[in-house]
Amino acid sequence: MDVKKVKPAGRIKHKIVIPGDKSISHRAAIMGMLAQGETRITNFLKAEDCLNTLAACQQLGATVNWHNEELIIQGCGLEGLKPPRSVIDCGNSGTGVRLLSGVLAGQSFESIITGDEQIRRRPMQRIIDPLFRMGAQIESEPGGRCPLRICGGNLRAIDYISTVASAQVKSCIILAGLFAQGKTSISLPGSSRDHTERLLRFFGVAVASGTAPGSGPGQLPDEKILVDGRSELSGRKINIPSDISSAAFFMTAAAILPGAELKLENIGLNPGRSGIIRVLVNMGAEVVMENQRQEAGEPVADLIIRGKGFLKSTHIYGPMIPGLIDEIPVLAVAAAVAEGETIISDAAELRVKETDRISMLATELSSLGVEVEERPDGMLIQGGNIRGGEVDSHGDHRLAMSLAIAGLVSEQGVTIKNPQCVNTSFPGFWEILEKVAR
Ligand code: S3P
Repeated sequence: MDVKKVKPAGRIKHKIVIPGDKSISHRAAIMGMLAQGETRITNFLKAEDCLNTLAACQQLGATVNWHNEELIIQGCGLEGLKPPRSVIDCGNSGTGVRLLSGVLAGQSFESIITGDEQIRRRPMQRIIDPLFRMGAQIESEPGGRCPLRICGGNLRAIDYISTVASAQVKSCIILAGLFAQGKTSISLPGSSRDHTERLLRFFGVAVASGTAPGSGPGQLPDEKILVDGRSELSGRKINIPSDISSAAFFMTAAAILPGAELKLENIGLNPGRSGIIRVLVNMGAEVVMENQRQEAGEPVADLIIRGKGFLKSTHIYGPMIPGLIDEIPVLAVAAAVAEGETIISDAAELRVKETDRISMLATELSSLGVEVEERPDGMLIQGGNIRGGEVDSHGDHRLAMSLAIAGLVSEQGVTIKNPQCVNTSFPGFWEILEKVAR
C-alpha cells in the first residue's frame, strides 16, 4: 500500500511557491466559458479538481488551449453552451458540482452531473431547492445526492435565503441568476468567500453585495448579493493568486517550529479566506504581510511567517468559521501542540466535507497520542505533544496534508496511508514538504 513517512523536522527556513487558488481557478474556468471572447489565465491550479471543471467547460462547448503555462479559453457567451455528449464528472470537487449545476440549471438541454464516491455522499439538496424554485427540473438520488439530472432554461429570478453560510451555494445561485429574467437576490448568515462576486465584476458584470441585519436566532449579520440576469461577461486576462488554503499547511508548520522562517509569495488574502492568519497570530506566531496588492479584483500579498516555538490555545467559533473552514484540520494540529485547551465550535459543516472531518480528525489525532474530545459541532483539543504513529487520510486531501504537518512537529514521525489524494488540490505537496523539512 502507498504510504508516506514524515520525519520530525528541525529548523525550517525557506521560500516556497504555492500553486494557484483552487476556488478561483474553478470560477475562472467557468467564467471563461460563459464569457464572450478570449480569457487568458496564468497560475491556474493544475490539480484534479480544477482540471475536472475545465474538462466540463470543454464538454459544454468552450475551447481550451494551453500555451506554455497560460490557459486560453474561447468562451461561448451566455447563449452559446452546447449539450454535453456524456455525463459531467467532477471527481472529488464539491465546488465543481455545485457551481456547474448553477450553470446547467440555466440551459434548456438535459445534463447529468456527478463525481466520485465522496461526492456522491455529499448534500446537494442545498442547491436543488433554490434551483427548483428558479424553475429547473432536477432529479437526484435519495437524500438529494449525486448524480443530478438537470434540465432548466427559462429561469425566473428569486429572492433566496440560505440557512448555510456556504460560498458554493451562494455561487451556484449567482451563476443560475445570470440566466434568469430579472434580479436574483441571495441572503446567507455571516459572510463567506466572495470570489464569484469579485470575479464576475472583473468580467464586467454588475454584482451588488452588502450586509443586512441578521434574520437567524444567532443574529449574525446576513450577507446579501444581487445579480442582474442576462448580464454578458467579456473575456479577460487573469493571474490567479496562490492558494491560502494550501499555504496554510506550511504556515502552520512554521508557526509551530522554533526558529522557523518561511516566505510565501503572491498569496490570495480574500477576507472570506484569511481567518487562519488571525488565529495563528492570536496563538503566538509572527505573520508579516509585504507587497500588498490586487490581482483580478482579489487582495494579494507576500507572507513571512516566523515561529517562536511556543503557541497558546485558542477558541475558534461562530462568525470565524466560514473564513477558515478548510484550515480547521491543520489548525487542529497547531492546537495539539499549543499550551492549554483549544475549543472549535459551530463547525458542524465540517461533517459534510470530503469526509466527516470532525470524526476523522478526532480519530486520527487520537491515534497520534493527542487528547481530543469529539463534539457535534467541533472538538476540544488538549494541547501537549504529538507522539506520532500511523494514520489514514481516508482519501481526504486536507486530512492527508494536515497529518503530514503533524508528522513534522511530532516526536517520532507520522506514517500516512493513502497519501496520493493531495493531488485533488495540491500537486507537488510531498516534494515541497521534503524540501522544506530537509
Ligand atoms: C469553496 C467553499 C467552501 C470550501 C470549499 C471551497 C468554494 O465550501 O469548504 O473547499 O470554492 O466556494 P462551502 O461553501 O460549502 O462552505
